[in-house]
Amino acid sequence: VAGLLYGVGVGPGDPELLTLRAARIIREAPVIAVPVTQADGDSYALGVVAPLITPEQRVLSLHFPMVKDTAARRAYRQAAAAAIASELDAGYDVAFLTEGDPLLHSTFIYVLEHLPAGTALEIVPGVTSIAAATAQAALPLVSGNQRLAVLPATFENVDELRGILGAFDTVVLLKFARVFDRLLDLLCELHLDRTSVVVERASHPAGRVVRDLEGLRGRPIHYLSLLIVQGGRERAGEVRA
Ligand SMILES: C[S@@+](CC[C@H](N)C(=O)[O-])C[C@H]1O[C@@H](n2cnc3c(N)ncnc32)[C@H](O)[C@@H]1O
Repeated sequence: VAGLLYGVGVGPGDPELLTLRAARIIREAPVIAVPVTQADGDSYALGVVAPLITPEQRVLSLHFPMVKDTAARRAYRQAAAAAIASELDAGYDVAFLTEGDPLLHSTFIYVLEHLPAGTALEIVPGVTSIAAATAQAALPLVSGNQRLAVLPATFENVDELRGILGAFDTVVLLKFARVFDRLLDLLCELHLDRTSVVVERASHPAGRVVRDLEGLRGRPIHYLSLLIVQGGRERAGEVRA
């Protein structure tokens, strides 16, 4: 009998935010698959659950380097899916760990795209980085008829980003660390810098909430940070009025 693939969200970092189901599956699965960006690199998700793993379990590191070339990226994803499929074919259950939730901007989604049709699958949702960040900042995300957008902050199209900031009440920008200074310029231009907040490493003991965004200019920002911009739609309405 083929094994079952679990896509397991381990939450944002604090092991107390792991669900009971995730903990049980991680304890029971013979194979723990983890995405790494460097061939010999560490996995953040594995670090979160390290105390649950025993020497009898095998850890399968799957290499997902951050390369620009789309054909190369695809080849790595296919190789990862093939490695998982061969464990499943051999009858082993595999728990694929992801930080946060497995279906929100996660490597697991790429694996899913390349798995053979009919692969037996169970997804274990996780506390997202967005939920952890808003909790840490005690910041209501959206309410009533407000609108929420979530997007990676690639700076390929600034005009499009400007439009999105003006169309939503709350915009959550992921993966923004490398373009922060340019983003801050845009927020200042739109008078949204004071209603924005950066949450770095939400739920981690070294995590922090930063409301004075100017203080971050030119400084290194941890990759595990997100930026929440609020009031853009209202502001755009005032400008139009
Ligand atoms: C590939 S996405 C992973 C999202 C994840 N699957 C989730 O459910 O939150 C990585 C981005 O999520 C955000 N992120 C992940 N963990 C975070 C944390 N603990 N604190 C703040 N942002 C985090 C950062 O913007 C980071 O660049």
